[in-house]
Amino acid sequence: MSPAAVPARAVSGAIATGATAAAAPPPGDAILRRQRVRESAARTYARSFPIVPVRAHGMTVEGADGRRYLDCLSGAGTLALGHNHPVVLEAIRRTLDSGAPLHLLDLATAEKDDFTSALFENLPAEFAARARVHFCGPAGTDAVEAALKLMQTATGRSGSLAFTGAYHGMTAGALALTGNVAVKEPLPGGGEVVRLPYPYGYRCPFGVGGETGAQLGATYVERLLDDPSGGVVPPAAMILEAVQGEGGVVPAPDGWLREMRRITAERGIPLIVDEVQTGVGRTGAMWAVEHSGIVPDAMVLSKAIGGSLPLAVVVYREEYDGWRPGAHTGTFRGNTLAMAAGAATLRYVAAHGLAERAAVAGARMTARLRELATELPAIGDVRGRGLMIGVELVDPAAEPDACGARPADPALAVRVREACLARGLIVELGGRHDAVLRLLPPLTITDEQVAAVLERLADAVAAASRPGSASAVAPSASAPAAREGA
Ligand SMILES: Cc1ncc(COP(=O)(O)O)c(C=O)c1O
Repeated sequence: MSPAAVPARAVSGAIATGATAAAAPPPGDAILRRQRVRESAARTYARSFPIVPVRAHGMTVEGADGRRYLDCLSGAGTLALGHNHPVVLEAIRRTLDSGAPLHLLDLATAEKDDFTSALFENLPAEFAARARVHFCGPAGTDAVEAALKLMQTATGRSGSLAFTGAYHGMTAGALALTGNVAVKEPLPGGGEVVRLPYPYGYRCPFGVGGETGAQLGATYVERLLDDPSGGVVPPAAMILEAVQGEGGVVPAPDGWLREMRRITAERGIPLIVDEVQTGVGRTGAMWAVEHSGIVPDAMVLSKAIGGSLPLAVVVYREEYDGWRPGAHTGTFRGNTLAMAAGAATLRYVAAHGLAERAAVAGARMTARLRELATELPAIGDVRGRGLMIGVELVDPAAEPDACGARPADPALAVRVREACLARGLIVELGGRHDAVLRLLPPLTITDEQVAAVLERLADAVAAASRPGSASAVAPSASAPAAREGA
């Protein structure tokens, strides 16, 4: 989500929507009030979801006010197994009880050794066969920095190629690679990054859409790199997401990804695939690169690999390992609990076929949402892969462009998010103008939960797009808010 685009509305208004009328302030109100006055203006999710979670299990989060929510945010795609999965809790408890040191810089431990085995066992075999892993500071953005530095060191070059709509993190190097102008604009500099068109079919950079748009994009990239007057100094790397997440859930066609692999390989440009959000089954394959079959030179991993605890790594082909000792350090690279939770998560996802489950559940959700789009003209586009689904909200009264896309409607998106919350559904926004509802439920979502999410979402979109609806709209009788056990 682009923090700069977050509306600076007061938080108390939205929580009142779902609360029962009572003289005493709802439990949690004092905490929310203190958060408002003590935490920075850059806080984001806390503005969108003015709730105080006290308990969570699977897909359900319970607030201090006793309301329950189905969580389609999952810690921004982190919780592959949902909240507090028994397998993850057991791994953490076992590690705690074992007396193992909890923090160990980058020293060798049995837990790290086991995590590394679980990771290599589950990476694409051709990639893992000749790969090295570097443990980073525990955030995706640090692993992006590391990948970039690695390739700069290996190639002796400095610039990079990145795409429109990309999101790679908030530290200086990763931010330079990110597409979101609003978060970059207030800062000096911006790094040596050549911006290339991502194949966003609905809002095609070439105004044609579909496969043709993606093919044009690939041709443009190839010709630009080969143009002696194109202004592109040979770069250290190309970085891309196989499905853009924060950019509005935009999957790249497999053929386009194969073209990027061919073009970079033929020109000696290392290809980094950022799987921070797409990894660990999310897109219906263990790793998003598996859909196209491409083998990258480096993969950046975080979020789900820590099993809900902070962990980030860069895995890369061994021939790029030209680093000197200490080339990318960081204090918190040896989080024993995260290694244990991460190894348990990776093995559980693989053993229980959760990537396949994500493909099936995601296809069902996407199909129903597409049906809904024919009834609700405010839904301009439904897209995604597996359980990474985007619903782009548009102004149905406005004229469509040459590709049939109407202008984004960010105000409607905010109303839908509020109406979802009022119905016990946590859904965050992203994409251009923050007008895309992003669904990232856990891979363990049940059929009953799929139905409940769809029902609440449909009701919320219908209510929020009704003429005259200015703010969060109360749920209809057919879509009861925050049902027990949902
Ligand atoms: C694709 C991608 N890369 C990098 C990041 C940055 O990760 P972190 O927020 O852990 O720094 C994110 C975060 O959402 C992401 O989605």
